[in-house]
Amino acid sequence: MTEVLIRGRVLTFVAEPQGIDDSASYHYFEDGAVLVRDGKIVDTGTYADIRKLAGANAEIADHRPNLVLPGFIDTHLHFPQTQAIASYGAQLLEWLNTYIFVEEQKFARAAHAAAVAERFMDELLSNGTTTAAAYCSVHPESVDAYFAAAEARGMRMIGGKVMMDRNAPEALRDTAQQGYDETKRLIEKWHGRGRAHYAISPRFAITSTPEQMEMSQALVSEHPECFVQTHLSENRDEVAFATSLYPEAKDYTDIYARYGLLNERMLLGHCIYLSDREISVLAETGAVGVFCPTSNLFLGSGLFDRDRFDRLGARWSMATDVGGGTSFSMLETLAEAYKVLHLQGQRLTPFSSFYRMTLGNAQALGLEQHIGSLHSGADADIVVLDSGAKPAMEYRMRTATSLAEELFILQTMGDDRSVAEVYVAGKPKKAKDKANVARQRIFETA
Ligand code: GUN
Ligand code: ZN
Repeated sequence: MTEVLIRGRVLTFVAEPQGIDDSASYHYFEDGAVLVRDGKIVDTGTYADIRKLAGANAEIADHRPNLVLPGFIDTHLHFPQTQAIASYGAQLLEWLNTYIFVEEQKFARAAHAAAVAERFMDELLSNGTTTAAAYCSVHPESVDAYFAAAEARGMRMIGGKVMMDRNAPEALRDTAQQGYDETKRLIEKWHGRGRAHYAISPRFAITSTPEQMEMSQALVSEHPECFVQTHLSENRDEVAFATSLYPEAKDYTDIYARYGLLNERMLLGHCIYLSDREISVLAETGAVGVFCPTSNLFLGSGLFDRDRFDRLGARWSMATDVGGGTSFSMLETLAEAYKVLHLQGQRLTPFSSFYRMTLGNAQALGLEQHIGSLHSGADADIVVLDSGAKPAMEYRMRTATSLAEELFILQTMGDDRSVAEVYVAGKPKKAKDKANVARQRIFETA
């Protein structure tokens, strides 16, 4: 039995905050602690209470005065795009053809996929993200590399091979049957192994024929335990192209609805140009719209209308969408979300932001029993945040007078430097991984 008592200013959510300072939505312990036993949380509360539960041999990790929160969750990004972030000058369809479909061809080489998977997982952890839902490339080897790297770190990760059988270079196309067979084999190999969850991943309507959509429908009905992920209504040219390929569909959302793909395990990236009818379909089916602000700004896609999702009762989550997204940091992502909503006269309060990065995203994934909060029995995936990590932040923090203000500074000015430590199933990962990256750099230049 191994026990760790993690001490600091502990913050964890119990519900979605309603309003600017809804203190019923979270628990905050100024001198708090989380007791971890064999990778799970035993209990969370004041240090005085929790230390009484710890055995004599418990290790104490004293992070005061830093904040201790549940690890961040990213609900949409692309592992093969790790080295394609910051590709210049194009909107979605041109960007995919010019940069992304070139980059993803490199993942036919298992050694390349393995090397990128290592860096991808370390980058997530360095930014405090302990669970993510990612697209792999079309190559099954990329999925093996992805889940192997996650497993080596003990991370709860969601992923799947993209299926695409048209409108992509030949080297990146599968066929409807091959996409089905390979996905089936990968689900058998990975889903439920350790902390791995499989996501059935038809990339989007443009790159899948009706035959591939039918195969996706079969996979979803044969594997209701799996996630499903795709892209929806990100860019005006994309919407026009997708709907022209499925003239019988009422609109873009109806393409996926007709193939029975919309359910509460479906994650739909972007959802910018949806009608009220389409958002209402998401509300009825429980499918989740995924807001990716850095990507939507970088690719010039448009502005996600959160208030309309809330008004129509549809679920939504937050994500980086690396490499259309420009940062692995959920702090930077929420900073941009704040601005995107502000442009539309909408507010994102500091407590809402931190709820979204943690419990909110866990609820969107239906994984709130395991991740997203520090309740007894949860996985001990934990992030430690230093709100004075950068000189300009430290200086700004001197004038902060409330927790809400501190959180807003962290979100607006923070990045990976604000992440002092990250625990995966109770094991500290950040310091060690920093050393690994440094060693790897020396190796690469030797
Ligand atoms: N739509 C289809 N594929 C992609 C992708 O890789 N990134 C983004 N942002 N949108 C997509
Ligand atoms: Zn995406």
